Amino acid sequence: MELSGHTVLVTGGSAGIGIALAREFYKRNNRVIICGRSLERLTRTKEEMSEIETVQCDLAQDSDIRNLAEVINTKFPNLSILVNNAGVQLNYKFTEIDTEKALKDIDWESQVNFNGMVKLITLCLPLLRQKSESAIINVSSGLALTPKTSAPIYCATKAAVHSFSQSLRYQMEDNAPNVAVFEAILPMVATDMTRGRGKGKISPQQVADEVFKALSKNDYEIRVGKVKLLVWINRFAPWLAQRILRGS
Ligand SMILES: NC(=O)c1ccc[n+]([C@@H]2O[C@H](COP(=O)([O-])OP(=O)(O)OC[C@H]3O[C@@H](n4cnc5c(N)ncnc54)[C@H](OP(=O)(O)O)[C@@H]3O)[C@@H](O)[C@H]2O)c1
Repeated sequence: MELSGHTVLVTGGSAGIGIALAREFYKRNNRVIICGRSLERLTRTKEEMSEIETVQCDLAQDSDIRNLAEVINTKFPNLSILVNNAGVQLNYKFTEIDTEKALKDIDWESQVNFNGMVKLITLCLPLLRQKSESAIINVSSGLALTPKTSAPIYCATKAAVHSFSQSLRYQMEDNAPNVAVFEAILPMVATDMTRGRGKGKISPQQVADEVFKALSKNDYEIRVGKVKLLVWINRFAPWLAQRILRGS
């Protein structure tokens, strides 16, 4: 697809992978809007890219999602690319759990990583459908294909993002072929989310470079870095993929 001249919303565009994607859209002459919870991070991003638009939004709150969609509808009705990047990861040990805390955490993590994303897509789709060429880009993880031990809700929500992206792509192909549905499946990346853990991490910029290459080729399922290998291992020796990722 054409990668300039769009109006682009990047959720979680104030840090990590989101800001790397936002920078790439920004330097290709797109109108870029980012959202996140921290005003300080949004302001810092605006200092770096003066023309960027920022909306403070907590995707865990339905009212914030509605407000974000309202801002887009009224101020940025030319929206043609929605990048669902914001995500969070918590660890749980279900054999040693603080039940009340866990019940809250499960709702929160599921909402930010999956339910909130689907709600935002639902609210933005009417605008996206009006454009001759538009796209939804969902960010998922190799952990969607085979999970690790420590973050079961995260892995399950990313598996949900993977499955949802496929179904939505089928629906758009059949009924609204002007809306392309991409999924970027990422390996471990050096960001705040993975600070202090993991080896062989790639940079957010490497992610952005690979994603942009794939977008330009309409490669809808974007397997970034080691995820290409993971997909093959998972197909031919799933036990090995499970062994590699279980303790990751
Ligand atoms: N890092 C990895 O190894 C890795 C691997 C595979 C997939 N991913 C996926 O890549 C995406 C980005 O991850 P990252 O590593 O770049 O994370 P990050 O460095 O922690 O950045 C997360 C971004 O999302 C925003 N955010 C978090 N919670 C939010 C909420 N409730 N509402 C709105 N914005 C929110 C954050 O801003 P505020 O904190 O200000 O809200 C920040 O801009 C996530 O979907 C993640 O699951 C990451």
